[in-house]
Amino acid sequence: MTSIPEFMTTKHRECDELFTEAEAAVAKVDWSLALTKWQSFAVELSKHFSQEEDILFPKFEQATGMTSGPTQVMRMEHQQIRALVQDLDNALAAQNKDEYLGLSETLMVMMQQHNMKEEMMLYPMMEKNVADGEQIIAQFQAS
Ligand SMILES: [Fe+2]
Ligand SMILES: [Fe+2]
Repeated sequence: MTSIPEFMTTKHRECDELFTEAEAAVAKVDWSLALTKWQSFAVELSKHFSQEEDILFPKFEQATGMTSGPTQVMRMEHQQIRALVQDLDNALAAQNKDEYLGLSETLMVMMQQHNMKEEMMLYPMMEKNVADGEQIIAQFQAS
């Protein structure tokens, strides 16, 4: 059985890896590799956000009664990240290397700060408060 912090933190690392590979490919002007890596990243990130927003955050809110606390901040940050992902998507489609690398730097910092808050604070709080955490993760693993 895998815990919420363990599974979700591993997903952060997997997304980081794909993101870094896409950036490296853009730096080497390998647009086809960059597109493959970038699309894998975008799919994984979107799935991860959905699992948080649609399942884990509501579970946490139900369990703790905290509906305007950390989960609201995380939802807002997801929106900021999604907007940057869209900008990066456009830069990649236009094969604009400088634009991409600039935005990439910004997104990397934003994601690091976001993930750190989840890993240090929110996931451990979920682990403590969400009773069926392991079943939820088993469903994520199967999806
Ligand atoms: Fe998140
Ligand atoms: Fe996350």
